[in-house]
Amino acid sequence: MRVFLILLLIGQQGRATRLVGRIESRKFKAEGETNFGSGSSFDSQRSTFNSFNFQLELVMVAPGHCARIARSLSRKTGVINCELGMTKPFDVELGRLTGQESTPRLSPMNLASGRERGTFFLETFGCQMNEHDSEKVAGVLLARGYRQVETPESAGLILYNTCSIREKAAQKVFSRLGEYREKGEEKIIGVLGCVAQQEGENIFKRAPWVSIVCGSASYRKLPELIAQLESGNARVTGLDLDTDETFETEVTRRNNPFRAYLTIIEGCDKACTYCVVPYTRGPERSRASDAILHEVRQLAELGYSEIQLLGQTVNSYADPMPRRMRFAELLLAVANVPGIRRVRFTTSHPSDFTPDIVEAIESEPKLCDHVHLPVQSGSTRVLREMQRTYTREEYLEKIAMIRGANRSIAITTDIIVGFPGESDVDFAETLSLLDEVKYDGMFAFKYSPRPNTPAQRMEDAIPEEEKGRRLAILQDRQREIQTACHATMIGSTFEVLVSGKSRRDNQWSGYTSSHRIVNFASSGTELLGTYVQVRVTGATPNSLVGEHLAAS
Ligand code: 5AD
Ligand code: SF4
Repeated sequence: MRVFLILLLIGQQGRATRLVGRIESRKFKAEGETNFGSGSSFDSQRSTFNSFNFQLELVMVAPGHCARIARSLSRKTGVINCELGMTKPFDVELGRLTGQESTPRLSPMNLASGRERGTFFLETFGCQMNEHDSEKVAGVLLARGYRQVETPESAGLILYNTCSIREKAAQKVFSRLGEYREKGEEKIIGVLGCVAQQEGENIFKRAPWVSIVCGSASYRKLPELIAQLESGNARVTGLDLDTDETFETEVTRRNNPFRAYLTIIEGCDKACTYCVVPYTRGPERSRASDAILHEVRQLAELGYSEIQLLGQTVNSYADPMPRRMRFAELLLAVANVPGIRRVRFTTSHPSDFTPDIVEAIESEPKLCDHVHLPVQSGSTRVLREMQRTYTREEYLEKIAMIRGANRSIAITTDIIVGFPGESDVDFAETLSLLDEVKYDGMFAFKYSPRPNTPAQRMEDAIPEEEKGRRLAILQDRQREIQTACHATMIGSTFEVLVSGKSRRDNQWSGYTSSHRIVNFASSGTELLGTYVQVRVTGATPNSLVGEHLAAS
């Protein structure tokens, strides 16, 4: 079933309509006028008139369709012609619809013929920052008339948003590209993100059928890059690094209808010797606090209640505005936006984890009781080799500060095993750190040498087999810790933001404030996106099991 919405907007210079709509009907058709159909609501009370900003969130309960913005008509009348996807929200700037755009509008590429014309497929590898970058890429393309499709076969433009943090992730990209060796002529194939930034034009040598290489700071240029291809260029690149253009993407097509990601700081100025991020994402740049808060207000009006602030070192945030809002103040300001119920942030660097962040969490229940604080190693000697800028003892002081809060705060971490020269004694210190901290969750990785990093040239590499052995030991120990920790939660009640529904009847899932997954039974019907009280009745190492306590 295809669903079309045609929405007519009459705006005047300096007085544009700002609408927030929500559609929840199985079948929906409206043509030529603003009509949100049955089972939907259009909140005219919240309509405000300001400078040609239009936002519409559509949450459609019809499976299997992608959101598409197909056309913009005259200067004063905006028409959105969409195919609606299941719970696929998107934001649109009215300027794009009224012809008063800040950047030139481009029509979808026409290299492909037939059904593939003007379509794109986008696959994302790696971290949440990459996921959010992909949301921006999708938004930029949708706003210019492209349509997102679910398979590379049905797309005219195939994009891979890549990760190069470990070698395996980078290799995956090249094996994916290998699948398109034959199809390079018919389709446009692009490599975005960290591998693009790291490998640059070398990608054209390794995979000559690729025609776009575009780093994370240049996404806004994508339509222009595609236009260059159409006008005869065989290959195009966007590899500028030191730019904060990425923050202010006009249109973002968010994948998650419940949690909105928002990057507040790009790049990284730390120089951990194993890490490729400073080379692929460039120097640290923070987004202005007023722009962040403006976007949070928009997201709240669109119905998002949970915000996750993102950055490689999110707590190193340095507001470029004259008011110089501190990170902890920003957290509180985000939590204060009407409609916001949960605020998360990741990833924190231990050296910049200051007491005011804990005080903010203590004072504001909307700040989630979870901190992700990567330690990387429990050995001060290895930490020094990694240039992590803290010792084991200093890290433990931060843990004590968090554990000392008057509200229980979950702590998770990242650990690398098998860093060059990591001895049995060093590894034993990492294991003992797990016992001391009793992390609520852990992500552990085998060290992977990365191009251009200082650690790549270090001696005493640990054999792969030994790295694997250490990883398994670490994971076993952590599993025991989590099993014991989760067992103590049986009988407790948590507030859960419901984000998933199982195919099995009456089974739902969601997250607690401390970011634990809870699978629970409920006879409720419209629970997605709501907050419910769940009593824990069972536990596994990685999740809790519970039952919905219906509101009395
Ligand atoms: N090898 C293995 N793991 C790495 N990480 C970063 N660089 C490497 C590498 N070269 C891990 C760190 C970081 C997480 C995102 O990835 O633990 O916190
Ligand atoms: Fe990489 Fe270290 Fe920066 Fe994290 S803090 S992104 S590990 S350089």
